[in-house]
Amino acid sequence: MNDPGEARLVVENAEVHYGDLKVLADVSLKVGSSEVVSIVGPSGCGKTTLLRCVGGLTLLDGGEIRIDGQVVDKPLPSVSMVFQHFGLFPWKNLWNNIAYGLKLRRVPGEEIERRVVEAIVLVGLVGFEKSYPHQLSGGMQQRAGLARALVMEPKLLLMDEPFSAIDAQTREQLQFELLRIWDSRPTAMMFVTHAIDEAVLMGDRVVVLAGRPAHVRAVRKVDLPRPRDRKVVSSPSFINLRDQVWHDLFNQQGGEGA
Ligand SMILES: Nc1ncnc2c1ncn2[C@@H]1O[C@H](COP(=O)(O)OP(=O)(O)O)[C@@H](O)[C@H]1O
Ligand SMILES: [Mg+2]
Repeated sequence: MNDPGEARLVVENAEVHYGDLKVLADVSLKVGSSEVVSIVGPSGCGKTTLLRCVGGLTLLDGGEIRIDGQVVDKPLPSVSMVFQHFGLFPWKNLWNNIAYGLKLRRVPGEEIERRVVEAIVLVGLVGFEKSYPHQLSGGMQQRAGLARALVMEPKLLLMDEPFSAIDAQTREQLQFELLRIWDSRPTAMMFVTHAIDEAVLMGDRVVVLAGRPAHVRAVRKVDLPRPRDRKVVSSPSFINLRDQVWHDLFNQQGGEGA
């Protein structure tokens, strides 16, 4: 089992409405400093909303979110986000997309150079530094999205269905690459997905979000050893967990609680 470390992220009784539509009700969860927490839930249930609140992009209507004890009321520099549709600047080449955040923080040029090279190597995009997003496949654009987040050396990495716009084979490849990257530098991560398999594969715990308004319906501990490789998905414990989460989602039976 991976040691989750001290709580880096605390979400307490989070509540969000858009006008009359109440999206999140009383959502509470924690993420340890070296823990991956998967958030799984049906499309439209409020996963992106929750992630945006943690990222300081959407404000809560009730409750509180803290990162390392600091209340989140704006985007914090220690947090990076990877978006479903990559979110790259189309007019910047790959190098400049990845370097952008560091330039904004006025990091010295030599350090930018070093960190961008390192990030590009880490995500396997060496040779594509001068390419523009439209010249890259979806998988490569998301590698760039990941590099752009990792180059900031975040204490908390937020991933919003990062692989759902990518073809199935590439998605599988990227899942295992992300696991490998995480093993090389474990950090707190919130991994949002609507895919049960992916939630179990990536997470140390799976938080099942469901209902209207969405609340935490169940929390499942993922007792799968790390590092995880392709063999893990055919193991009995993986299959068992996947079934449990499926039941949490669709049979409305409770899990072990938050
Ligand atoms: N800015 C917004 N204004 C109004 N409604 C929104 C806004 N963003 C999301 N919603 C609605 O809130 C609900 C949850 O959306 P979202 O958080 O994107 O869900 P998910 O990421 O789980 O698919 C949906 O019904 C969606 O239509
Ligand atoms: Mg979403």
